[in-house]
Amino acid sequence: MNKLKWGIIGGGLMGREFASALGRWFALTQDDVPPCELVAVCDLSETARNWFERVPTISQITGDADALLRNPDVDAVYIALPHQLHREFYLRALDAGKDLLAEKPFGIDLEAAQSVRDRARELGRFVRCSSELPFTPGGQAVWKALANLDWLGRILEIRAGFHHSSDLDATKPANWKRQNATCGEAGAMNDLGMHVAHLPLRLGWKPARVYAQLQHGPSERPDGRGGVTACDTWDNALLHCDVEIGGESVPMRWEMKRLAPGETNTWFIEVLGTDGGVAFSTKEPKTLRVFEREGSRQWWKTTDLGHQMAFETVTGGIFEAGFPDSILQMLAAFAAERAGTLGGRLGMVTPDEAVVSHQVWRAALVSQREKRAVEID
Ligand SMILES: NC(=O)c1ccc[n+]([C@@H]2O[C@H](COP(=O)([O-])OP(=O)(O)OC[C@H]3O[C@@H](n4cnc5c(N)ncnc54)[C@H](O)[C@@H]3O)[C@@H](O)[C@H]2O)c1
Repeated sequence: MNKLKWGIIGGGLMGREFASALGRWFALTQDDVPPCELVAVCDLSETARNWFERVPTISQITGDADALLRNPDVDAVYIALPHQLHREFYLRALDAGKDLLAEKPFGIDLEAAQSVRDRARELGRFVRCSSELPFTPGGQAVWKALANLDWLGRILEIRAGFHHSSDLDATKPANWKRQNATCGEAGAMNDLGMHVAHLPLRLGWKPARVYAQLQHGPSERPDGRGGVTACDTWDNALLHCDVEIGGESVPMRWEMKRLAPGETNTWFIEVLGTDGGVAFSTKEPKTLRVFEREGSRQWWKTTDLGHQMAFETVTGGIFEAGFPDSILQMLAAFAAERAGTLGGRLGMVTPDEAVVSHQVWRAALVSQREKRAVEID
């Protein structure tokens, strides 16, 4: 298979995580995934650029995004920039002839997401958006369990969420994710929402309407330079949605929280029906919970999942899977889908799904302002 050569624009937290995942591509053992290599990186910060000196396959380290986008050796670009820069840089990458792995939220707002989706379609580029947690063994087990919904009986409710406690400490310095101008008016929905929406949207569960309860965090924080800075993003978002499944309106709650006591990066999904149900949380990363009922007898079964991944690796299902493994799996899904070899495996978030997520965030903002349920087109 042809090698897929990558460039990164934005070598911060996620740029480095992405580079690290590509650095252990050889851990993937199946021959239906194209080989991948990181060849170029761009960041405005010299400190960020210097970190990439340790990556042996990189031949271009630059502060000039256009120079990277002109590099004929780069096939696809991973762009991990603050949200207000997404639209501009995603469009530049597409116009330069590159395929794109976009970071969430895929533009700061609905209009940005739509313009990127439309340009990608017009130019015929392969574009996907980041959301790695469904690629954990637990996420994959839920995805497989829901391939057929008949065993659930009548679906009663769906709950999916991503919880952090990162903002409980009001003395923690703010970064760009705490301000509307750079994170977006949708706040925690922009920051955490794609992780929550990915599986429900892939299952076809687009909310029909939403009633939102949004909460702010501290209104100011240290700026990390001895002063204080105003923080205006929504920190917590509870979205009470209706979704049509099998001709019935089913309650679906999406929860995105940066103020969740006791939670440090907890992703979860729970789908309950009259006859069966499935639940997984990264809080118990090896445990899949399955509900079953026969007449009046009912029980929850727990399965010790092991660590088998969708794309096999040298360690198989034996050793503990972690966040970097889910990134590697997600990148394997990008490379395989781009090459036409994904098969029945879960793919990354599509541009259309990213646009739908922004439609939900937009309706949630209206709902919060007007204290009513808002229809989603
Ligand atoms: N998938 C995930 O789990 C996950 C986790 C965290 C962040 N993210 C997303 O990744 C993206 C980046 O977040 P981050 O936490 O890595 O941010 P970050 O602040 O750590 O890194 C951003 C980098 O972009 C660089 N930069 C800023 N403007 C630039 C420009 N014009 N040209 C080149 N470089 C520039 C900065 O110097 C910095 O190094 C965001 O969209 C965020 O939502 C995703």
